[in-house]
Amino acid sequence: MAKSTLNRTKSECLYERAKNILPSGVNSPVRAIKPYPFFVKHARGSKLYSVDGISYVDYCMGYGPLILGHSFEGVLDAAREQLENGTLYGAPTENEIKFAEHISEMFPCMEMMRLVNSGTEATMHAIRLARGFTGKNKIIKFEGCYHGAHDYVLVKAGSGATSCGAPDSLGIPEETTRNTIVLPYNNYAALEDVVTQESNDIAAVIVEPVIGNAGLILPHGDYLQKLRKLTKEYGVLLIFDEVITGFRLALGGAQEYYDIEADLTTLGKILGGGFPIAAFGGKKEIMNHLSPFGKVYQAGTFSGNPLCVSTGIAVLQTLRKNKNEIYPKLARNCDELKKVIVDLVSSYTIEAQVNSIASMFQIFFTSTPIVDYGCAKSCDTQKFSVYFQELLKQGVFVPPSQFETCFLSTAHDKDDLERTVDALDNALHKVSTKGRSV
Ligand SMILES: Cc1ncc(COP(=O)(O)O)c(C=O)c1O
Repeated sequence: MAKSTLNRTKSECLYERAKNILPSGVNSPVRAIKPYPFFVKHARGSKLYSVDGISYVDYCMGYGPLILGHSFEGVLDAAREQLENGTLYGAPTENEIKFAEHISEMFPCMEMMRLVNSGTEATMHAIRLARGFTGKNKIIKFEGCYHGAHDYVLVKAGSGATSCGAPDSLGIPEETTRNTIVLPYNNYAALEDVVTQESNDIAAVIVEPVIGNAGLILPHGDYLQKLRKLTKEYGVLLIFDEVITGFRLALGGAQEYYDIEADLTTLGKILGGGFPIAAFGGKKEIMNHLSPFGKVYQAGTFSGNPLCVSTGIAVLQTLRKNKNEIYPKLARNCDELKKVIVDLVSSYTIEAQVNSIASMFQIFFTSTPIVDYGCAKSCDTQKFSVYFQELLKQGVFVPPSQFETCFLSTAHDKDDLERTVDALDNALHKVSTKGRSV
């Protein structure tokens, strides 16, 4: 029987209204939480506040960007100051140079870069540039790596696309993905096989150095170093998609963390401090192929948007100035949460894996270590759903999908962690009392 309007929460009512005007009621698939998402009124620090008057300790953090927490004062100040001076010029600014110089100092492989509006745009242009530069068509991507919602990379793409077939979406002609070779991550032999045989046709390998879109999956041993060596040897460009890992694993992203230089790098998320901006860049000899001086076309009305550039500068300056405190503190808090989860699953005798690195973590309900997308997909997602819903009931918001990752921010404090530990205890107890579902 339909629930009377009187008994409905504000979020439930808003979701009914949203479904009439926004497909599935949302503007990005993973937000369509069942039975309905909570609608946000405002956010500050580590918390989201819903229209229903509930506060949530947030571990989505906008799906990664908000490493300094919601409504970080330095970012808001930068935005306020820029608003007074205009929000779009259609002509260059000194701040764009300053921002790019900052980025290049943290990512030395990005000798030159272009600013764009989203991670999707960044990877799309990086791939086109790799093809234009090498004169080759094929690219290699890995199962479970998500590089945005454009056609060439939407194959076994992790994140919100996980539930679809291949290509991961209707509307993508098969011939579009014919040049996309998909390989299992962490399997060097499979990679070596293809690269050694087909390098004449392969423009680039694109990889999330640490996968954050199939849950969280770490590179094994010297997998990334071997990937770098192989691609260099065979004249295949290596694109590190650091949209998540950039400024997250370390200031200089996975490239600093693992001491590897990619040929092209894509950044997004943290780069704008909650404002939409992204970048792709690499060696000058490659980047100089971009239009108008070069023959690879790339453009954007909002590219290098002054508002987003100003907030991006504020974030990067804060991270650089305080990196010695920020990154160790984030890692400590993450390690603490991981330990709590590991202890709880052991005491409740739940079969589970916990992967973590720097300030990212994720739980998988399985007895098998998670080393690739296949392992991640074989987990008990119904148990994950119980875990998610129980945490939510207790005011802790983790990403609603098994195929996402939790993020900590500098705003998460002792109280948040304590509240999270209690919620985790209850949620995992609930998981343990529900039998394995098929
Ligand atoms: C690794 C990675 N690359 C690219 C993207 C696409 O970025 P955007 O959503 O800003 O288009 C994402 C988004 O989650 C991502 O995680």
